[in-house]
Amino acid sequence: MKAAVFYGPGIPITVEDVDIRPPGPGEVLVKIHYSGICHSDYRVLTGDWEYPMPKVLGHEGAGTIEKIGANVTDLKVGDHVILSWIPSCKKCYHCVSGRPNLCESYKTKIESHISLNGKPVYPEFRVGSFAEYAVVPESGAIKIRDDMPLDKACLIGCSVMTGVGSVINTAKVEPGSSVLVVGCGGVGLSIVQGAALTSAGKIIVADLNEDKLEKAIEFGATHAIHSGRHDLLTEVMRITDNVGVDYAFEAIGHVKTIELAYETIRTGGTAVIVGQAASGQTVSIDPFEMSDREKKLIGCNYGSARPEIDFSRLVDLYMMRKLDVDSMISHVISLGDINEAFERMGKGEGLRTIIKIV
Ligand SMILES: NC(=O)c1ccc[n+]([C@@H]2O[C@H](COP(=O)([O-])OP(=O)(O)OC[C@H]3O[C@@H](n4cnc5c(N)ncnc54)[C@H](O)[C@@H]3O)[C@@H](O)[C@H]2O)c1
Ligand SMILES: [Zn+2]
Ligand SMILES: [Zn+2]
Repeated sequence: MKAAVFYGPGIPITVEDVDIRPPGPGEVLVKIHYSGICHSDYRVLTGDWEYPMPKVLGHEGAGTIEKIGANVTDLKVGDHVILSWIPSCKKCYHCVSGRPNLCESYKTKIESHISLNGKPVYPEFRVGSFAEYAVVPESGAIKIRDDMPLDKACLIGCSVMTGVGSVINTAKVEPGSSVLVVGCGGVGLSIVQGAALTSAGKIIVADLNEDKLEKAIEFGATHAIHSGRHDLLTEVMRITDNVGVDYAFEAIGHVKTIELAYETIRTGGTAVIVGQAASGQTVSIDPFEMSDREKKLIGCNYGSARPEIDFSRLVDLYMMRKLDVDSMISHVISLGDINEAFERMGKGEGLRTIIKIV
């Protein structure tokens, strides 16, 4: 099969013919139709996170089941699926207590179903969707309704799930709450949509890119701040009558913007770290102020997803036109154009780029 192979930071990705093994017990072979490009792929690309190489990047994919391995009971050939980058074992403490996105059974395993000249090529986050096929555990392919277009479905596999989920599942934002979203990429715009879905009150957005701010307004933001031209904290305080926001979501993964998001919340408010920083960084907060004002700083992984429930819910919301995935897509490319797409992402240009694989 064809796959975009990444050899390491600084080396352009090349499309190559690689080998893929058949699905083993409990696994399925997925034919990937579309894959989105997420900033987490960019983190791997730039070496912010270290992994064994070479690699097939991509974790925001959708496609159809091509083949099932032994003992697979819940999926059949032809099913439409969204790939989940956190397969779940259904047995551990986290899975049993209803938090499958925290399952660690697959997280620590370094596995490869792909090889090139007899040497392993590692799929990113147990998916590796910048390729024609992927072999994944059964719980890593979530069946969705057949009438959901797969070019939109792929984005539910990461940015939409993470962003909407951070509002609904992680923070559980109440109607009328004021919300700040720092960073309006695929994840940030999905946070804005999640906030609009929960009938949040003021939805304030910040970005360095004018186009992203305009898009955020279309998705339901009520106030936009160009944080390169204006001081974010001053502006948020002005908009909230010096109270601060109930919830601040950071969707960039920078130390400074995480600290800033935390500063903008009101007494008793919650700041949510959705953006994922490069490994080994630390943020500083004032612990006295934190206890005194009961401020909360919480993390969010994959929008606290329960993929088996949440993917279908998001698909239904899309089909009911309550969730706009179409407007999140700015570029549709082929596998060979992947390097240019990452260059655009590095400059903060464009919204989601999706790769048409089939
Ligand atoms: N928590 C999770 O499970 C999870 C899942 C997916 C992605 N992520 C992370 O979320 C973050 C965002 O991902 P994405 O795919 O939306 O990225 P993206 O590249 O699409 O968007 C990032 C946005 O941040 C803006 N930006 C950059 N620096 C800024 C600054 N200093 N101030 C204001 N805006 C700034 C850019 O203009 C861009 O609009 C990344 O860190 C990614 O790794 C986390
Ligand atoms: Zn992602
Ligand atoms: Zn588990």
